[in-house]
Amino acid sequence: MPDALAVRNLEKRYGSVRALRGVDLTVEEGQLVGLLGPNGAGKSTLVKIAAGLVRASAGDARVAGARAGSRPARAALGYLAELFRFPGWYTADEVLELHQRLAGSRGGAAERARLLELVALSEARDRRVDGMSKGMAQRLGIAQALVGEPRLLLLDEPTSALDPVGRRTVRLLLEELRGRGVSVLLNSHLLSEIELVCDHVAILLGGEVVAAGSPQQLAQPRGVELETDEGVHTVEGVTRDDVPRLVEEAVRSGRRVYGVRVLTSTLEETYLEAVGGETS
Ligand SMILES: Nc1ncnc2c1ncn2[C@@H]1O[C@H](COP(=O)(O)OP(=O)(O)OP(=O)(O)O)[C@@H](O)[C@H]1O
Ligand SMILES: [Mg+2]
Repeated sequence: MPDALAVRNLEKRYGSVRALRGVDLTVEEGQLVGLLGPNGAGKSTLVKIAAGLVRASAGDARVAGARAGSRPARAALGYLAELFRFPGWYTADEVLELHQRLAGSRGGAAERARLLELVALSEARDRRVDGMSKGMAQRLGIAQALVGEPRLLLLDEPTSALDPVGRRTVRLLLEELRGRGVSVLLNSHLLSEIELVCDHVAILLGGEVVAAGSPQQLAQPRGVELETDEGVHTVEGVTRDDVPRLVEEAVRSGRRVYGVRVLTSTLEETYLEAVGGETS
């Protein structure tokens, strides 16, 4: 089975601006991939190319094996734009109905009811968009992206307007979708969120991938802290695997060991190091 999204050596120039400079990124079937990066890094551009809304200047982007922008590629994906706006006078149900028509979904009322339930909006089925909180509108946006059961979901900052409870709702929803085998590419500035849900993370800076791996790989080990009768000191360049040896050596040299702590950097620290505190 082809990957849900395969991006190879992707480049995008907007006039003199080089938004993407040779990006490789894969979203495997069923994987939840997070795309991080400062403002202007190229995250939305990459997602828009995958969605077929922006044409790449060079390189290749494929959705479920089909060229991005082609009909089969568009049929295989759901997209929630960074800045989206539904007509204010539409009800939640009507928004989904409109998108069913646009996507050619034959799911009917049953699909709409299922999606509203999934995003906890069943009660708001007949509420107009104008009367929704930002969080409700954003959850409706996610439901809209799921119309027609896409294999790949492209979410450009789906939690930017949400309060902590709303974010948690979306996070649980993403986990639920992963359980169903949906592949997701998620743009976000919320590192803790990415750390919690994603299988794989790529950090973009100035149109290039500057770091990639699982959240655990990116949150690298930073040494081991030993507390002995001589006080607390940090041994650098070692990992959890070195702990038994370190304790043994300390004890053999007459120390009394009171505590051991394996130090790791958070994804946030790795991120700040990778982007050098920059906004491009
Ligand atoms: N339509 C456009 N015309 C010209 N330049 C553009 C266009 N869209 C994006 N850019 C430029 O391309 C670069 C990447 O923009 P993009 O929106 O992809 O970044 P981003 O990572 O999504 O940023 P943010 O976190 O602010 O959403 C920026 O320098 C931006 O100004
Ligand atoms: Mg963006």
